[in-house]
Amino acid sequence: MKKDRILVTGGTGYIGSHTVVELQKAGYPVVIIDNLSNSNREVLDGIERISGIRPDFVEADCTDLNALKKLFADYPGIKGIINFAASKAVGESVEKPILYYRNNLNTLLNLLDLMGPNGVKGIVFSSSCTVYGEPDQNPVTEQSPIKKATSPYGNTKQISEEIITDVITSGAPFKSVILRYFNPIGAHPSAEIGELPNGVPQNLVPYLTQTAMGIRKELSVFGDDYNTPDGSCIRDYINVVDLAKAHVIAVERMLNDASEDKIEIFNLGTGLGTSVLGLIDAFERSTGVKVPHKIVGRRAGDIEKVWADPSHANNVLGWKAETSLDDTMRSAWAWQLKLRERGIM
Ligand code: NAD
Ligand code: WQD
Repeated sequence: MKKDRILVTGGTGYIGSHTVVELQKAGYPVVIIDNLSNSNREVLDGIERISGIRPDFVEADCTDLNALKKLFADYPGIKGIINFAASKAVGESVEKPILYYRNNLNTLLNLLDLMGPNGVKGIVFSSSCTVYGEPDQNPVTEQSPIKKATSPYGNTKQISEEIITDVITSGAPFKSVILRYFNPIGAHPSAEIGELPNGVPQNLVPYLTQTAMGIRKELSVFGDDYNTPDGSCIRDYINVVDLAKAHVIAVERMLNDASEDKIEIFNLGTGLGTSVLGLIDAFERSTGVKVPHKIVGRRAGDIEKVWADPSHANNVLGWKAETSLDDTMRSAWAWQLKLRERGIM
C-alpha cells in the first residue's frame, strides 16, 4: 500500500537527514524543506546513495508562511510533519535571542497554522533534555520537573512544547508527539551522512573527532571536579540512527491513530550515563586512535549530570536504543575520515 507523504523540516540537517533515510526505508515519500542555514545540498546526495531515492527538496525558510503555503500546494497529500528546523547553538542564542525566538517559534507557529487547512494528521516535534535543566534526580522521566531555561535556545523548546499543547487543547484537528532527545551522536554506518558543524564545534563528539584527526590541537575537558565518579560531567549519548528510527514509529502512531492521546511526550535516550572521560575512553578503545586532551575549568552553564529513563518510549513505542557506544564512536570516526577523504575537513 502506498504510504502518505511526510514533510521533514530541517531535513538536510544532522538528525533530519538520518530520519529521512529511515522514513524512506519504511516506504514513506518525503519532502524536505530546509533553508540550508546549517546544512548543505550535498546531504541530498548522501541520502540518495544510502536509500537509492532522492527526496523531494524545497529550499525555503519555514518562517516564510507563503513559501510553506506554496509547498503544501505543490506537494499535496502531506499527512505528517517532522519539525527539525530550528537554530540550535546554545551560546549563540544567548547573544542573539531575537534570532532564536523568531526562527524557532515562527517556524512552529506557521506549521501549526497550516496543518488543519491542509489535512495534516500530526506533527513530531524535536524537543530536548535541556527542558529538565539540572535534575534533582536521575534518571529523568517525562514527569520530572521542567526547570527554568538557562538559555533562549532552551526556552524556545519549553515555549514550543507549551504552544503545541495550547493549540491542540484548543481543538486543533491533529496530534503531536514531542520527543525529548538526550545527546545525539555518531553517524550513519555507511558514513554517507553525519554531523557537519559550522566552524569550531561546541559539542563534545565533533570536537573530539576533529582533535583525533589533528584539526584541533587538543580537546578541553570542561571540569573534573563534579560530583560524579570520575569528576567529569555525565550525559546520555544516543546514537543518531537509533534516534531517527523513533521518529518513524512516532509518525506511524499519529497516522494510524494508535493512541487516544492527542499529545504524547517521550524521552529518547539510552538510560545510561557516560562521563566525558568515559566517552574519550570509549573512542580510543573502539577506534584505536588517541585523543589528546587536557582538563580545564568548568564551562559556564553546564549541567553536572543528566540521563534518561527511556522506559516510556521502550514500552509504549516499542523503541529501544540498540547501538553500542563503541559502534557509535566508530561511526563518528568513519564519518570524520570520510570528510577528510572528500577534502571537507
Ligand atoms: P541541524 O542544525 O543539523 O539541523 C537543523 C536544520 O534546520 C538545518 O539543516 C538548518 O539549515 C535548518 N533550518 C533552520 N532554521 C530553518 C528555517 N527557518 N527554515 C528551514 N530550515 C531551517 O540540527 P540537528 O542537530 O539536526 O537538530 C534538529 C532538531 O533537533 C533541532 O530542532 C534541535 O533543536 C533539536 N535537538 C537537537 C539536539 C542535538 O544535540 N543535536 C538535541 C536536542 C534537540
Ligand atoms: C557534552 C559534555 C561538556 C565540549 C547541548 C545543549 C543541549 C542539547 C545537547 C539541543 C558536557 C563536555 C563539551 C568540549 C567538553 N542540544 N564538553 N569539551 O552541553 O550536554 O548539551 O547539546 O537541545 O541543549 O546544551 O552537549 O556536546 O556540548 O557537551 O568537555 O569541548 O561534554 O562540558 O559535559 P550538552 P555538549
